[in-house]
Formats: sequence, structure tokens, C-alpha cells
Amino acid sequence: MQKATLSLNGQTHELPLVVGTEGEVGIDIRKLRATTGAITLDPGYGNTGSCESAITFINGEEGILRYRGYGIEELTEKSSFLEVAYLLIEGELPTKAQLDRFRHRLTYHSLLHEDMKKFFEGFPPSAHPMSVLSTIIASLSAYYPENNDPADVELNIIRLIAKIKTIAAFAYKKSIGQPYIYPRNDLSYTGDFLHMMFAVPSETYEVDPLVENTLDKLLILHADHEQNCSTSTVRMVGSSGASLFAAISAGVSALSGPLHGGANQAVINMLERIRQDGANYRKYVEMAKDKESGFRLMGFGHRVYKNFDPRARVIKAAADQVLERLGVDDPLLDIAKQLERVALEDDYFIERKLYPNVDFYSGILYRAMGIPTNMFTVMFAMGRLPGWIAQWKEMHNDPNTRIYRPRQIYVGPNARPYVPIEARE
Ligand code: SDX
Repeated sequence: MQKATLSLNGQTHELPLVVGTEGEVGIDIRKLRATTGAITLDPGYGNTGSCESAITFINGEEGILRYRGYGIEELTEKSSFLEVAYLLIEGELPTKAQLDRFRHRLTYHSLLHEDMKKFFEGFPPSAHPMSVLSTIIASLSAYYPENNDPADVELNIIRLIAKIKTIAAFAYKKSIGQPYIYPRNDLSYTGDFLHMMFAVPSETYEVDPLVENTLDKLLILHADHEQNCSTSTVRMVGSSGASLFAAISAGVSALSGPLHGGANQAVINMLERIRQDGANYRKYVEMAKDKESGFRLMGFGHRVYKNFDPRARVIKAAADQVLERLGVDDPLLDIAKQLERVALEDDYFIERKLYPNVDFYSGILYRAMGIPTNMFTVMFAMGRLPGWIAQWKEMHNDPNTRIYRPRQIYVGPNARPYVPIEARE
């Protein structure tokens, strides 16, 4: 077994190494404090592995992303979102019988308990759909409190994937004051979501196969991504023994931040701002380089990718084709491409290895498909749900899982006596 050597306070300590199946090396420090009295410090965990996982592999330097060993490029081209969801959660691609049963169970669990509609009524129309999504998912714990027995866990996983599209569509309908459209059992997963989003009682709504197929691919591209902020949140909350619904609700909340999943909405808001400012994209590239400006190029940069985010490549390629076939001419796409071109020629971005990430072009596609901007991050959450579930399940089923409880280095006041209020200045 290879080891790392640490020299501290005149003593030498050996630390075991963990080497992954793709050759990644981790220094195992789980006994560090007990043997050396010291801990490590790594704000933002940029150098810290929280677990060993067999679900997703990213090579940030080379721009590689694989789910259970399959490249996302091949999965996006040849698979479906439900098949990828099964792959992530179960670890293997399903047989036809397994996929048919998975799809059937999801279809017949897509309704919400009628009493849950009261929760939506309590929100103002202006409520952000991510707040609604997080709240309603958390409330599932009240309707399905059993979450220990493996059979209950398995059924709750089905309920979550089946109901998230209904919750998302109901949140949208509530925000625009239209009646809810109920799930239909004759439509595909993505087709049913689009129907619930855009159908109205008085008219027949035909799902556009191009939109249905494009959304299915976008959901695949968002399905998992190692130990990102929201996935780590799901694992952290789940490690306390809280329900799967509570852990996923927390993941939705973490994803909503503009530095994470909320970036896809922030990108479109940024592109709109640039468009209204005479499409002066060079001005905004310069602003992004100036720390004082408080402006960031949203959709650019990544903690792990120091090359093109492979998802951004796939989405950018799809954007041209899908917008043309939908007959959509979106000036924001041209601005996005110009921003990318200028940024990637600029030393500031080159030195920091800042490239477009998954959020840079995804909003352009969502817009073209008629999905409103404030629903973009909900789309991200729908795609990421199978990944969150797979990661939660891996943590939940690991007998070595301990409650997540990081340490700290205290830098506050040393011990001091209480001062009565009369004696304080
Ligand atoms: C997602 O982790 C995941 O896997 C996430 C995700 C997933 O699938 O789960 O991939 C999804 O969240 C994608 C990222 C979406 N967020 C954005 O697009 C927001 C804009 N990007 C950044 O805020 C930033 O790049 C992060 C948050 C993505 C990464 O932050 P880091 O790793 O903490 O990097 P940093 O902020 O320390 O930046 C390093 C340097 C800094 O400059 P210096 O201090 O070295 O001079 O790069 C600069 C930053 O100022 N920088 C940017 C920038 N991103 C980083 N400068 C201008 N514009 C940017 N977008």
C-alpha cells in the first residue's frame, strides 16, 4: 500500500493513500487528528474528497464527464433521461423489461395528493418556483413518513422522480394564474411535463417531438456531477438520518444559488442586460475582469473544469440546430457566442482557465422551447434529481457512512470573564 509522509513538530507520520479506478490519488486523513493532533483546513473543499463514489467521474483538465463509466456524449445521443436515471440509481443500464417497469411505476405515481394543492395556494404568484419546489418536496415527508425500510426507500425514490415534474408544472401554472393540468399516462416523462406546463383546459396541446427530445437530452446532461454544492448538501443532510425528501429539498435550495444552478437564469438576465446596453459585450468582458465592478461573467468558470465543460459543448451544438428547426432567431445566442469568443482570447480568462460551463448556453435552449426564465433552475433540479438520489443512496447504503461534521480552526477571543453591563463602555 503506497503512503504519504507528513513531518510535523519533529515527528514523521505515514498516511495511507487511496487510488481510484481512474488513477486519482487521495491522502486518507481519517486518523490524522488522532495521530498528529492537527486537522487540515480547506475552505470550499477545493482539495478535499468527502467520499469514495462509483457514480460519476469528471476529469476537469480534459473535460471528461461519465455516468457509471458511460460518456455523456454517447448517453445524450443514444439513451433517454429515464434510462440514465435508472443507470445512475441502480448502477447498470436497464434491460427493456426493467426500463418498462421503471417507466410504468413513474407514470402511476405522478399525481400529487389533492390536499397538497393547498400548499401551492399559500404562495404569492411572485414566489420563485425553486422556493415552491423545495417546500413541496419537503412536505412529501408528511405524506410519506416511512423512510427506513428498503421497500419504503425504493418507493419514495419512485415517488420523487414521478412527482417532481408535476410539482414543477403546478408551480408554473400557479405563478401565471392558470388551472393545473394533471399528468397524463399516455405521454413520455418529458412529454407529460411539457403538456402539464403548456396545455390549457380549453385547447388541445400537442407536444412538439423536437422540444420533447431536446428537453430529454438537457435532463440527461444535468443528471449528476460528483460532489458539487447541492449534491454535497444532499449527502450532508442525509448523513444525519433525515428523510430522503428532506435531503433532496435541501439540495434544491442549495442549487438555487446564482453561483450554482441559479446561474442558468443569471446568464439570460446578463445577456438581456448586455443586449439592452447595445450588445456591448466587450464592455462586460472588461467588467468581469475588474473585481471592483462586482460583475461576473455568469455561466463562465468552474471549480473542477479547467477546460471546456463537455456539457456546454453538447448544448452549444444543439442550440444552433434546435433554434433553426424551431424557427427561433434569438439575438442572445449571438451575444453569448461573441462573449465566449472574446473571453477565450483574453489573458484574464486564459490564465484562470475560465471556460463556458453547463449554464452558459442552456438558457438559450430553454427560452427557445418556451420555458420561462424563472423555471430554468427548476429544469436543472429535475435533471439533477436522479443524481442526487443515486448519491444519497450510495451514502445511505454505505455501512462506513458517518454523520458529516467538519472541524474548524478557532480564531476568536481567548477565555475572558463576564463584564456586567454597568462596567461596559
Ligand atoms: C454549476 O460544482 C459543480 O459541478 C457545479 C455544476 C454542477 O453540474 O453541479 O457544474 C453546476 O454550478 C456550474 C457553475 C455555475 N456558476 C456560474 O456560472 C457563476 C459564475 N462562475 C463563478 O462564480 C465561479 O467560476 C464558480 C462559482 C463556478 C467557481 O468558483 P471557484 O472555483 O470558487 O473559483 P473562484 O471564484 O475562486 O475564481 C477563481 C478566479 C478568481 O479570480 P482571482 O481571485 O484568481 O483573481 O477566477 C475568477 C475569480 O474572480 N472568476 C471569474 C469567474 N469565475 C471565476 N471572473 C469573472 N467571471 C467569472 N465567471
